[in-house]
Amino acid sequence: MDPFRENLFAGKTAFIAGGTSGINLGIAKRLAGLGAKVAVAGRNPEKATAAAAEIGGPEVALGLSADVRIYQSVEDALDQAVARFGKLDIVISGAAGNFVAPALGMSANGFRTVVDIDLNGTFNVFRACYAHLNRPGASLIAITAGQAVNPRMLQAHVCAAKAGINHLCRVLAMEWGPSGVRVNGISPGPIADTEGMARLAPTPEAEAALTSRIPLRRYGTKDEIGDAAVFLSSDAARYVTGTILDVDGGSQLGDASTRDGTHGLA
Ligand code: NAP
Ligand code: COA
Repeated sequence: MDPFRENLFAGKTAFIAGGTSGINLGIAKRLAGLGAKVAVAGRNPEKATAAAAEIGGPEVALGLSADVRIYQSVEDALDQAVARFGKLDIVISGAAGNFVAPALGMSANGFRTVVDIDLNGTFNVFRACYAHLNRPGASLIAITAGQAVNPRMLQAHVCAAKAGINHLCRVLAMEWGPSGVRVNGISPGPIADTEGMARLAPTPEAEAALTSRIPLRRYGTKDEIGDAAVFLSSDAARYVTGTILDVDGGSQLGDASTRDGTHGLA
């Protein structure tokens, strides 16, 4: 049984930057499944159109082409979303880029590109959407990552960008709280069947090694991140702002592997 009330988001509109694949598309489908109208935006227009069809077709979803690095591009996408479905109640900023490289193997442009998509993109999306929000009551969520808190080698760009996102969420929560806008983050752990994990743990061996360190001993699912987004976007989280919600099977607690793998558990 679905833990959330059917049609929880009836009459609500969501805009999801980076919602054309992976985790963010999973969030889009979860919100639409609970009654929201959803606009998803990514650079590739064919991917955006296909995502909208997958979410439920033109009655419930709109696929838009936008590059979050370009403020005007974000504004244009927001204008189209609002023209189609009305003012926004839920905004998710989830567009991101990642590759594995040491700092010395990363050009200045490589570093800047990821910071530009993740951090500057989140500022652009949140800054530009404010004028279109149903206030009070709107919910903004940034999709961040454990790299924001725990430094990881070969991830200098992502660590810097995601740390910036976490703090940006906290500042905006303070500035926009008085107008009834909540700003939070979701920090997923390793999520199955995603581009992110294809890049970070590309072999079964790498996946097994990673899983052995996670307290809950498995990757998460897109639906599990979707459920966290549903909670934070719903009235159940009406007094929650400026928080980063870890949905990671305990990954950020540290390495939970043991020599024999049992910890004395049967
Ligand atoms: P993904 O499938 O590659 O999703 C990235 C999305 O962002 C796509 O829709 C992509 O579409 C869009 N995008 C990329 N650059 C963009 C730009 N400049 N402007 C607009 N859209 C852009 O990745 P994912 O693995 O599901 O990750 C989704 C989010 O979860 C990211 O924020 C990531 O950091 C976070 N996360 C993922 C994991 C994981 O296990 N995968 C763990 C922790 C955090 P286009 O390519 O068409 O632009
Ligand atoms: N190692 C080192 N540098 C790399 C690299 C790698 N594996 N991949 C890209 N770069 C560098 C490029 O060389 C370039 O720098 P340069 O101009 O000095 O040579 C810079 O990064 C930008 O690359 P480019 O391909 O022009 O950027 P883009 O805007 O087309 O794509 C990326 C952005 C690189 C982040 C691309 O991987 C992407 O689009 N990712 C989106 C999907 C994704 O990453 N999903 C996972 C999310 S967690």
